[in-house]
Amino acid sequence: MALLFYIFASKCEQMDFGNKNIWITGAASGMGRALAVELSACNACLILSDRDESGLKETLTMLNPACKAHHLVLDMSDSASIEAAVARILSDFKTIHALYQFAGISQRSRVMDTPLENDRKIMEINFFGVITLAKAILPSMVEAGWGHLAVTSSIVGKFGFPFRSAYSASKHALHGFFESLRAEYGNVNIRVSILIPGRVQTNISKFALDKDGREYGKMDPGQANGITVQKAARQIVKGLKKEQKEIKVGGSELLMLPIRRFFPALLYRLVTKIKAV
Ligand SMILES: NC(=O)c1ccc[n+]([C@@H]2O[C@H](COP(=O)([O-])OP(=O)(O)OC[C@H]3O[C@@H](n4cnc5c(N)ncnc54)[C@H](OP(=O)(O)O)[C@@H]3O)[C@@H](O)[C@H]2O)c1
Repeated sequence: MALLFYIFASKCEQMDFGNKNIWITGAASGMGRALAVELSACNACLILSDRDESGLKETLTMLNPACKAHHLVLDMSDSASIEAAVARILSDFKTIHALYQFAGISQRSRVMDTPLENDRKIMEINFFGVITLAKAILPSMVEAGWGHLAVTSSIVGKFGFPFRSAYSASKHALHGFFESLRAEYGNVNIRVSILIPGRVQTNISKFALDKDGREYGKMDPGQANGITVQKAARQIVKGLKKEQKEIKVGGSELLMLPIRRFFPALLYRLVTKIKAV
């Protein structure tokens, strides 16, 4: 009986966003912006960061007017700026209850065409930037006795995919790092959620790096057929509320995940057939 009660109670545990200080990176567009809009109706205090100041200001105009929101320009490839920003934010807000990270860039180039500097740039933003920010915030969460970290991986953080070698690697790396962090700090109430989006209609492919390190500039057809950012944000809020360890975001393309798990040979055959970017 006690065991049943424990299972039921832990299923009902819900993150309450009200009166929480929530930092969202990548908030100038796409899923980060859509999540900020959703949470702005929840009486949370939002700290929104991105490298794109005009996009951030546009996000602010979209929030529920009752929401307390602050914005800061922060480049996730600059670890010194990230650490300085955390020191400033903690001195202003004392505690960050939740850190939800969306900032990232993608890739559209094959392995042999991609210079190492592009691989490093993608790792710098998608992995080192994300862990720098999390590591800077974590001690204050541990001291406060509670904290929620969410990072954005991808379905290609679960399997390799053509034209995404460094991008896929950066997302795989997030799983290793943040699952380890959860194993170390879960017992002191640090919650970790890893978001696994499939296809969401955002500008991620337009700003992806091509082989020359320039913006790819095109919307992928698959991306264009993805779910809307509003739908993605609702799925994300649902998962964050339940503090799910993995939050899948998307539509039918998420079927690739069980295929990878139960029929890996089939998945490897399918991805090998993808010839176009
Ligand atoms: N959309 C999808 O289908 C999909 C699928 C799987 C995973 N994801 C992941 O989801 C996350 C959010 O992407 P999204 O789809 O919402 O695309 P998005 O609209 O392009 O959002 C990404 C945001 O990150 C910002 N950013 C990029 N580099 C940065 C840096 N160095 N410092 C600070 N901010 C930076 C971008 O700013 P700029 O506008 O200045 O570039 C942009 O505002 C990413 O991590 C992406 O990898 C997306």
